[in-house]
This record gives sequence, structure tokens and C-alpha cells, in this order.
Amino acid sequence: MAPYPLQPPIVAPSILSADFSRLAEALSLAEPTRDWVHCDVMDNHFVPNLTFGPIIVAAARKLTRGFLDVHLMIEEPERLVKAFREAGADGITVHIEACRDVRATLSAVRESGARVGLALKPGTSFAVAEPHLADLDLLLVMTVEPGFGGQAFMGDMMDKVREGVAWRERHGGRYLIEVDGGIAPDTAKVARAAGAEVFVAGHAIYRQANPEIALATLRDAVR
Ligand code: DX5
Ligand code: ZN
Repeated sequence: MAPYPLQPPIVAPSILSADFSRLAEALSLAEPTRDWVHCDVMDNHFVPNLTFGPIIVAAARKLTRGFLDVHLMIEEPERLVKAFREAGADGITVHIEACRDVRATLSAVRESGARVGLALKPGTSFAVAEPHLADLDLLLVMTVEPGFGGQAFMGDMMDKVREGVAWRERHGGRYLIEVDGGIAPDTAKVARAAGAEVFVAGHAIYRQANPEIALATLRDAVR
């Protein structure tokens, strides 16, 4: 697969914290030439929260040319890979804990034409992901328990980020390392120092007085 269209560091505003009655405005913040747009899909089974499905991803697709980074927090994501790809997802990330067959699910994402991402909950060790790392475009290290925006960053996940960097150096993997949860300028710097390359942020952008300035501040923090 060709390299990603954008080079890291990349900030990915998470629309979970945006005002959905003004989705166009929320999406217009992200600049397609340097940011991703992060979409959190939750099913009230894998996580307690319930958010949205392919219809909203399709709406987002109409509103931005940016890279749509779709984070599936749903049980058996394989069943919906095609639907999210058809809705316009550029990258599809599944949770290793949610897959009945991880390899088959990652293959389904690959075959759909989307970039292939694998996410690890805080309690999931790096070792569990190792058999799949060679197949990935993105490794998502969760820095909160998935389910809700606005939680506190878990600094002890930085060991997992460092393991991701070390494995890639040793084995020549090509995945980017993404962090998600509690990312603000200070914690983004910590994650950047550990080796993270994509920084998802909800509250630190959309719940600020001036989201545009907040996004610019985050971009600067990880530069
Ligand atoms: C949490 C989601 C995150 C969420 C992050 O389960 O995966 O993407 O939007 O929100 P903040 O940045 O507010 O912690
Ligand atoms: Zn997310």
C-alpha cells in the first residue's frame, strides 16, 4: 500500500466531543492537508456508551476531504467493516479484544481498501498484539478506558507506546502509533516523547472556548 498521504505528527480531532447539530463547523476545523478526523463508533456492548454508525460517517465524508480515522468500539467489528468503508472511512481500527477472529477481521479491513488499525485497551498487553503487527498500518494505544471523552490520560501506557516503537525498529513494521484519550497539549508532549505519532483529542479541542486555537496549540505541542 502507498504511504499515508500525511506525514506524522498528526492531530486527529475526535468528533465525539463536538456539537453534532453543528457537525459541518466541527469538521471544518480539521485541515485535510495536516489533520485527520477521528470518528468513535460505540455499540453499548463492547463499551457502555452508544454513539453512531455508518450514516454519520457518511455525513462526515460529505463534509471533509480529510482522512477519516474510524475507531470501532464494537463487538465483532468484522460484520460492519464493509459498511463503514462504503460510508467513506479511510482507516478502520478494530479492538483486538472485540474480534472473534483477529486475523480474519484485519484481512477484511485490508480487503475493503481501508488502512488497517488495531486498538489495545489499557489492560491489554503489547504481547497480545505482536502476532498481528506486521499486518498493520496503525497501532492504537488507548490512554483511557474506551467509552467516553473527557477522561484522565493514563501515563503508564507510554511503556506500550515505547514497545511499539521498539518492535517496529526491530522488525521493520510500518504502522503509525496513535494515542487516544486524555490528550491535551501537556499529555500530547509526553506521548510524543514516548514515540506516538497520531494524537486523538476530543475535549482538548471541542470543549475549549476557541476550538481552532486549541487545535493549533495541540499541533504546536507535538511538532
Ligand atoms: C474514547 C474515545 C476517544 C475520545 C477521546 O473511548 O476513543 O476518541 O473521543 O476523548 P478525549 O480527548 O476527550 O479524552
Ligand atoms: Zn477514539
